Amino acid sequence: MVKRKLHEPLEERKGNLYFDGFSVKELADKYDTPLYLMSEKRIRDNYDRLYGAFVNNYKYVRIYYAAKANTNLNVLKILHSQGAYLDTVSPGEVFLALSAGYTPDRIMFTGTSVRNDELKMLADANITINIDSQSEMDRLLKISVPQILSVRVNPEVGAGHHDHCITAGPESKFGLWEEEVIQAYAIAQRARVGRFGIHMHIGSGVLEPEPYIAAVEKLLSIAKRVKKEVGINFEFIDIGGGLGVPYKPEDTELDVAAFSSKVVNLFKNKVKDYGLGKPFLFVEPGRYIVCDSTILLTRVNTLKVTPAHKYVGVDAGFNTLIRPTIYGSYHPILVANKLNEPEKETYSIAGPICESGDLLAKDRQLPEIQEGDLLAVLNAGAYGYSMSSQYNSRPRAAEVMIRAGKPVIVREREQLKDLMTNQRVQSDQ
Ligand SMILES: Cc1ncc(COP(=O)(O)O)c(C=O)c1O
Repeated sequence: MVKRKLHEPLEERKGNLYFDGFSVKELADKYDTPLYLMSEKRIRDNYDRLYGAFVNNYKYVRIYYAAKANTNLNVLKILHSQGAYLDTVSPGEVFLALSAGYTPDRIMFTGTSVRNDELKMLADANITINIDSQSEMDRLLKISVPQILSVRVNPEVGAGHHDHCITAGPESKFGLWEEEVIQAYAIAQRARVGRFGIHMHIGSGVLEPEPYIAAVEKLLSIAKRVKKEVGINFEFIDIGGGLGVPYKPEDTELDVAAFSSKVVNLFKNKVKDYGLGKPFLFVEPGRYIVCDSTILLTRVNTLKVTPAHKYVGVDAGFNTLIRPTIYGSYHPILVANKLNEPEKETYSIAGPICESGDLLAKDRQLPEIQEGDLLAVLNAGAYGYSMSSQYNSRPRAAEVMIRAGKPVIVREREQLKDLMTNQRVQSDQ
């Protein structure tokens, strides 16, 4: 019996895993492993569900997809055609956004520790910036006075699936604190910035509305003070991303309709009470849009039993998917050719990287595995490929997408020659 309840794009047929109607075994044979396999349909469905849930409650809403989760140009273009806007954090992401067809008015920049030349590039391109520090703002105003400016607020409440992913609250390096926020807007106004937004992003992988409720309350109370004390109106209020998806079997799915009605109702009430007009509500999801649109296929090379563990050695390590190593993240794993076999063995799934931390899963109950079996690592679409590297001099994996009903390569597998990119060999003296 299949233990995990599969949902689109996954499906079981005669014990084998299918993805958007295609046998993953056939795809792995054709395109080789490790392979990121992506579903256009799931990306569109996730976007529609989320946008629908918000727009149902408030008509002035925009989804700014957080590009860092997955910057494949096809993902960016699909979301462009859905009507998405983009949140970016580096000149590289801005470059990719422009290349994917986003006009500057559909791009926002929420960087941290930003260089002057980066600020100049953003100002020249007319991209709205969420300022992350007073230092950044002072430097920006010397370079250019933007038409519109937004300040990233630390609303003093953070949340997230791991300490590294909590991006507000006392320990966080991000955003400005209340008194600094007031000052920052006053300075911007004196410098004759004409239009304003306000921003927060509290963290990543949040499955309940409560942390947002507290943070949105704080954000709006600060917006109220700014309006009263500095006398400016906000064109947009950006509540960040962070909406989670279930990874572990016990995680429950985020009910986006209920989430949005709670958060948006609070937003609407406070905006009205505080006389903040009719600002746009911006939401910046990354993971929610792409996470479960993608699986990572990896082939079993090696079986090894030590006194402590039964190791399954596969061809994807933390060079390909680093989340389990850096965050201890749990990714569901299926033996793609044995979906109906009993999960009677306990395995640790290790990659080919020469480090002990190179584990995709620890002590996981799975069907009995043989060399050559194919594993599917689920929920690999967010912070998967985008965090991958060439560590141990292993070329990066390929990405295939089921696009318009057909599998197509959307990123070539890197070759050995790609390991030499940008290197300059100096001759011996
Ligand atoms: C400013 C900002 N917005 C949005 C996001 C997206 O977060 P998530 O993928 O959890 O939705 C991030 C992620 O780190 C972020 O830093």
